[in-house]
Amino acid sequence: MDSRGDSPIGIFDSGVGGLTVLDECLARLPSEHFIYFGDTAWFPYGDRTAGELRGRSEAIARWLLDQGAKMVVVACNTATAAALAHLQTRLEVPVIGVMTAESHAAVQSSRSRRIGLLATEATVSSGSYQRMIAAHDAGADVTAVACPRLAPAIQRDSPYDEELVEMVREYTAPLREARVDTVILGCTHYPMVERLIRRHVPPDAVLISSGEEIAREIAGTLERQGMLRPGGEGLYRFACSGDPAAFRTVGSRFLQMPFGDVEQVDPGVAPEV
Ligand code: DGL
Repeated sequence: MDSRGDSPIGIFDSGVGGLTVLDECLARLPSEHFIYFGDTAWFPYGDRTAGELRGRSEAIARWLLDQGAKMVVVACNTATAAALAHLQTRLEVPVIGVMTAESHAAVQSSRSRRIGLLATEATVSSGSYQRMIAAHDAGADVTAVACPRLAPAIQRDSPYDEELVEMVREYTAPLREARVDTVILGCTHYPMVERLIRRHVPPDAVLISSGEEIAREIAGTLERQGMLRPGGEGLYRFACSGDPAAFRTVGSRFLQMPFGDVEQVDPGVAPEV
């Protein structure tokens, strides 16, 4: 192990969605330490411009590095689409984003080559998923649906109501019409309502989400670079930019693990260069 093995892995998202990634990481990499940052004061990222997201993501990543992070995980599809390349060119540590692994998994799983995508407005209009899927199978047919109200509905205090059901029914209608056999949950918030989505996509459609795929990629990178923490039980801690109590309530409902204190941090915005 090199000297960075004991350092934490930094993870961020616009809010609680990235906890679906952290959850998989805690299971797959139990010896690692994690710091999770939820940018709740800037939520939702789905309405923001790519320029805004680059400046904010860089500032968050630099805060994570100040905390000693040996790797930065962008556990948000919207920030990955807007800022992953930007972060990779500016930071010295490995920066891993979502999207690539799910795109590949979707192509591998689809027999009909009709793939559905549910994501934020910013992610769908960036065209990133469409390009990544085409890189693996240029003949795949992608039905992409922007779901601007879904992440905000999931992140509120009590998400499970008729309004949410109606929303999911509406957003999945084009996927039923296109008879897709594989659906990418292209926003890290969406696995939190996976059971509901499953009920409204074509029967037997395979749902692909980032958590499992990215956890595997993180483990592979740490192993190849000799940066795995060799043993013992890792620690995890949380910070957010908005109200810590609200973050803790919604976050612990999903994670179902002790949450501890949530630190409030304002990472600022990195200047455009
Ligand atoms: N969890 C985020 C994503 O994966 C974004 C939701 C939002 O902030 O709009 O895209």
